[in-house]
Amino acid sequence: MSVYTNKESLLAFLKPWRKSKKIGFVPTMGALHEGHLTLVKKALKENDCVVVSIFVNPTQFNNPEDLEKYPRDLDTDEALLNSIDNNIVIYAPNAQEVYGDDVEATDYSFGGLEFEMEGKHREGHFNGVGTILNILFRSIKPDNAYFGQKDFQQLQIVKKLVKIEDLPITIVGVPIVREKSGLALSSRNKRLTEEEKKEATLLYKTLSEVKEKFASHTISELNDYVKEIFKNNDQLLLEYFEIANENTLKTATKKSEKEKYRAFIAVFIGKIRLIDNMALN
Ligand code: PAJ
Repeated sequence: MSVYTNKESLLAFLKPWRKSKKIGFVPTMGALHEGHLTLVKKALKENDCVVVSIFVNPTQFNNPEDLEKYPRDLDTDEALLNSIDNNIVIYAPNAQEVYGDDVEATDYSFGGLEFEMEGKHREGHFNGVGTILNILFRSIKPDNAYFGQKDFQQLQIVKKLVKIEDLPITIVGVPIVREKSGLALSSRNKRLTEEEKKEATLLYKTLSEVKEKFASHTISELNDYVKEIFKNNDQLLLEYFEIANENTLKTATKKSEKEKYRAFIAVFIGKIRLIDNMALN
């Protein structure tokens, strides 16, 4: 397993691979779990060489406490990746290496995708995501890059980013990996107590119920239904629930046969913010 903290040595390693081999890339912020590993396994199947970046990107955090408390454990991440394939290349730079002295995000316009849901609640978040991915894409120059549907809005924005930046990279979306309980795997789950983890299964349960009711109820009825569920829960604070068009991410008010819809939810459990989503039709 090779671990690079320095861009020049990573690029020197990748140079011979570029000629005739496919390079797959899985960007992460570490604290790896089976969700990340599923992306890596797919990348291993579809490419000759796989780079996993591990970098807690400061410009995408709008909450300083979230950035500070974000779990970091490179040794465990390395061991996990090594256990699935010892040819994976890890790129784990520090902020100076990535940004130099200018830890600033670029202002992006993602055609309106950035103003919906997460965009309304995490100011500047997608500028930070776009900035770091543009930097990483331009140095690693992968053929394929892998992203989870867990962050569905991010996935759509990354597809837009490669168009805007005119980068010849195929963006591959991977379904959400969940615990048996339905809870979507997330690095932030490490900060939940067992009791809170149990409570947090309400996100999946609610999304599943909405999916079941989608054909027989109006969107307004479903919105009310979800609000009522969370109104009666004193551990989970609903930040938003939305049914949105899967492509535009615009809030849906009525259904059209031709469109695809997804339900999106963000909830606070104590200070920890969890998000989830589910395809409805
Ligand atoms: P991070 O939260 O570490 O996630 C890295 C990738 O793993 C993302 O594409 C995310 O959607 C995917 N992922 C996380 N949990 C998942 C799950 N339960 N099932 C499937 N995929 C899952 O997302 C980021 O990092 C950052 O924003 C990043 C893209 C690295 C830019 O800094």
